[in-house]
Amino acid sequence: MTSPLLPSPADTLTALQAIVGADACRTEPDDVAGFVTDYRGLYRGSAHVVVLPADTDQVSRVMAWCHEHGVPVVPQGGNTSLMGGAVPDDTGTAVLVNLRRLNRVLAVDTTNDTLTVQAGVTLHGARMAAEQAGRLFPLRIGSEGSCQIGGNLATNAGGTAVLRYGNMRDLVLGLEAVLPDGRVFSSLRGLRKDNTGYDLKQLFVGSEGTLGIITAAVLKLMPQPRATAVAFVAVADPAAAVALLGLAKARSGQAVTAFELISGTALRLVLDYLGDVASPLAGTPGWMVLIELSGGDDSLQQTLVDVLEAGMEDGLVQDAAIAASLSDAERFWRIREEISDAQTRTGGSIKCDVSVPLSRIADFIAEATRQTLAIEPHARMVIYGHMGDGNVHFNPLRPADVPGKEFLARSYAAISHAVDGLAHAEHGSVSAEHGIGVAKRDDLLLYKSAVELDMMRAIKAALDPQGLLNPGKLLPPA
Ligand code: MLT
Ligand code: ZN
Repeated sequence: MTSPLLPSPADTLTALQAIVGADACRTEPDDVAGFVTDYRGLYRGSAHVVVLPADTDQVSRVMAWCHEHGVPVVPQGGNTSLMGGAVPDDTGTAVLVNLRRLNRVLAVDTTNDTLTVQAGVTLHGARMAAEQAGRLFPLRIGSEGSCQIGGNLATNAGGTAVLRYGNMRDLVLGLEAVLPDGRVFSSLRGLRKDNTGYDLKQLFVGSEGTLGIITAAVLKLMPQPRATAVAFVAVADPAAAVALLGLAKARSGQAVTAFELISGTALRLVLDYLGDVASPLAGTPGWMVLIELSGGDDSLQQTLVDVLEAGMEDGLVQDAAIAASLSDAERFWRIREEISDAQTRTGGSIKCDVSVPLSRIADFIAEATRQTLAIEPHARMVIYGHMGDGNVHFNPLRPADVPGKEFLARSYAAISHAVDGLAHAEHGSVSAEHGIGVAKRDDLLLYKSAVELDMMRAIKAALDPQGLLNPGKLLPPA
């Protein structure tokens, strides 16, 4: 359906073709389908044209035209959002702007330790560019081959190395973004100190494409660690895992790079899904952690052994496998990183992505489990995540004999509200790293204060008074 106030689809197409070229405008249903559906197939919308601009100038001209004619715009990177943040609604009125052609590495400066890339460079591409220069770009998430730097910034992506290096917000020094009216905010500076007022670039980080379209960024590079040590460790329960993390930090300081919790149910699910991968540990422990230490110290492996021995003496560690080779380490990590896809393939997963203070995480997991099982006694408790950051992916999965749709229809709301409510009561977050999109948009009314919502709306109104950019995402209707 097209609003009578909007230009006709034919006029829109003609105008956009004049800016980006006919080849870079897609309208055929088969060509558009992959852009208007998220990769899990949970969010389906429509767009009357998908445009693939080649550079910032084209993005700017597309935005200026859409602004002038009141046409909504949905920006999209690798379309890996779990929250429906990168697909349009089903009105078919939006122009979808996909950034994949802005895929150039613009500069690598190994003196300044910065990497300047266009927004459509994949995370894998950015990591490879850093590696080729003898540096590390440390953001690490499972979808690195598909997700793009612009989307990583727009959603303030986290992942498995946040404990050591921070979220995307901590890894950006400069930014270029096209504003809703087509003007270009250009701050592609590689400065670690710039105390000249509001940090405007950070407004766009985590804004989920509602304030501007990120087109390029200057990212921080780190030294490549000379050594890495990885272990898969069985622990009695989440409280033991928290205590082991304290021990690992005390013994190895900055070297703790990742500390991932994995429930026995999550391990079983992923091993069944992968089929050809052996468990690192005998049997199926109830709880495990994947620990990675990294740094410049060749004795790191010994440090990890010391941590685990001390953990055994303290009764925290029940069993452990230390990676003896790179391929062992890769296998351990593969098991961790495939949990997400194992759930997607099974279907019927209630994805709660919460964070609470580390001191509260064990009690939180126990109580959230109790409340979930009171609602769905046979739910499979797929619980895992970045425990080192206090971030739990608390993802109850449908019982084996209940179809996913039925499970979600009857229990999604009750379970997600129970879990999110508990996290909120612990002064935690109901979206630690996945963002808001459409999935959690209305929940913000429950978990953000009136002052916070007013401030968010005021910023949106200042930059996008017509509400044309990524409409319906992130901000709940007033
Ligand atoms: C992960 O850590 O694997 C993802 O953030 C969780 C997910 O895909 O649900
Ligand atoms: Zn995660």
